[in-house]
Amino acid sequence: MCGIVGYVGKEKALPRILNGLKFLEYRGYDSAGVAYLENNNLKITKEVGRISNLEKLLDEKTETYLGIGHTRWATHGIPSKINSHPHQVGQFTVVHNGIIENYLELKTKLQKEGVKFQSETDTEVIPALLNYYYNQTKNILESISLTLKELHGSFALGIICEDDKEHIYATRFGSPLIIAHDKSGYFISSDVPAILEYTNKYILLDENEIAKISSTDLTIYNEKLQTITKEELTYEGSKEAAKLNGYEHYMLKEIHEEDTVFLDTYNYYVADNKFKDTMPNLKKYQNIHIVACGSAYYVGQIGAKLIAEYANIPCYVEVASEYRYQKNFYDKNTLVIVISQSGETADTLSSLRKAKEDGIDTLAIVNVVASSIAREAKYTLYVKAGPEIAVATTKAFLAQTTLLTLLAIKLANRLDLLEYFKGLEDYIRILLNKDYQKYAQAFYKHNDTFFIGRGIDYALCLEGSLKLKETSYINSVAFQAGELKHGTISLIEEGTPVIGIATRKELIPKTISNIKEVKARGAYVLFLTNEEDNGDYYDDILVIPQVHDIITPILTVIPLQLIAYEVAKLRKCDIDKPRNLAKSVTVE
Ligand code: F6R
Repeated sequence: MCGIVGYVGKEKALPRILNGLKFLEYRGYDSAGVAYLENNNLKITKEVGRISNLEKLLDEKTETYLGIGHTRWATHGIPSKINSHPHQVGQFTVVHNGIIENYLELKTKLQKEGVKFQSETDTEVIPALLNYYYNQTKNILESISLTLKELHGSFALGIICEDDKEHIYATRFGSPLIIAHDKSGYFISSDVPAILEYTNKYILLDENEIAKISSTDLTIYNEKLQTITKEELTYEGSKEAAKLNGYEHYMLKEIHEEDTVFLDTYNYYVADNKFKDTMPNLKKYQNIHIVACGSAYYVGQIGAKLIAEYANIPCYVEVASEYRYQKNFYDKNTLVIVISQSGETADTLSSLRKAKEDGIDTLAIVNVVASSIAREAKYTLYVKAGPEIAVATTKAFLAQTTLLTLLAIKLANRLDLLEYFKGLEDYIRILLNKDYQKYAQAFYKHNDTFFIGRGIDYALCLEGSLKLKETSYINSVAFQAGELKHGTISLIEEGTPVIGIATRKELIPKTISNIKEVKARGAYVLFLTNEEDNGDYYDDILVIPQVHDIITPILTVIPLQLIAYEVAKLRKCDIDKPRNLAKSVTVE
């Protein structure tokens, strides 16, 4: 959600900033802008829509060696040139990722001091405050430090002060920011993919730290403005991992990586049918809460059912935006598990912090290394999905499901179940290589669809339905198969597409009777199951390989992802960057 890239160095800044911003497109945005120094004058260019629109207004050959750029995902005020970043007040120009919760209060205070605001954004109070303090102190670092004390919310900031034309300043609280350098100079960025073309070494700025960056020097200050040294991290993946490599879309490429992602995640925690030291000892936990958002929450639902069923441990699942504000009941053996691909989701992070404040142990299941959630949890278990660029999560979902399944086995102390994972990658490949276009054909012209299933299959219905909604903009509802007749079945009419999912032997006949109910009312039914079936109650059938129940969800999700992809393609949607969505949701 919003992306920041800055560069100061010996190479021309605009190509590097624009190239970096393109790598951050996946985070979601609706306008973009840059501020740069040319002949010692600060220039600002902004445009609504894609980065390519901004590019048309810029000359990449411009002699500029210092600049900051931004992709904005609108929160306060519509996507417009005026609301786009960078925002400038007096000496200060700022790009911001995050939300300033007390901006109205700050705005009123500054207006009383005579500051005139141009935009509807929360961000504009930041350069205004910086300028306000700079007028008093004439010291840039002190002004940043005083401003930090006034801001409530989450922010990563790239700052230029026109009284210091050699440096970019950067700071953060809540939202992520990294600093990297190559032979030519320094970068700031919201995420690692933006700098991988140049280097794989980076520094993570911690909360309230301030960086002062020139083309040759980086100084980092703590809250008290004392200089500190920081460890340089190395990005372990290849830079190719963030590229399309011949695929038409990142979503398709990432789904096709699922066999490897499964193996990498499994092998990181298991060897020779035993857990490695990478899997912590969790014996003492007898009560589990799982907290997450969106697809990660659906993984949580799968995990909770597996933990309850196999480990016999009560497991409560809640969406993070609810969990963080409600009364939660813990005991001394409670473990709070948070799941997040990005590791930066604001509600999930706050839920984690809330549990910690209440003295409860936390475990994070995260993809992005060294992200905020990964760093703050007591135990951090990484999934090995690699960079996920498409906004709609796919391979991370499969990796998280794999890891939650392993966690259930660990908690159940049932090492015998690890045997069933052998060769699962081959079944994944079989599913990846099926033709899903024919299924998509039946769906893509409709505006309403239903997914029905029971138990874990219902959690998969939720995920299949979300994938379809977000990528193809088809309204879709997931329902517990048995609940349909308590109201929702009135929506079924002639031709309404329904995907019925049934993969649990004992529940298959139950779900089939619900499928018959919708079929009798005219629905077009696609039956997704793991048993051959010759019934006359569906229009089409998709049979997935039969494996042990505990690992079936890892397979079931694959056709759902690929059907959503094919439907979105037939509807000519912007598959990797669906409208209004952001990859990393750093606001609540
Ligand atoms: C859907 C999707 C979202 C995320 C949710 C949580 O395809 O990607 O629903 O699952 O925003 O994000 P993370 O996992 O980064 O916390």
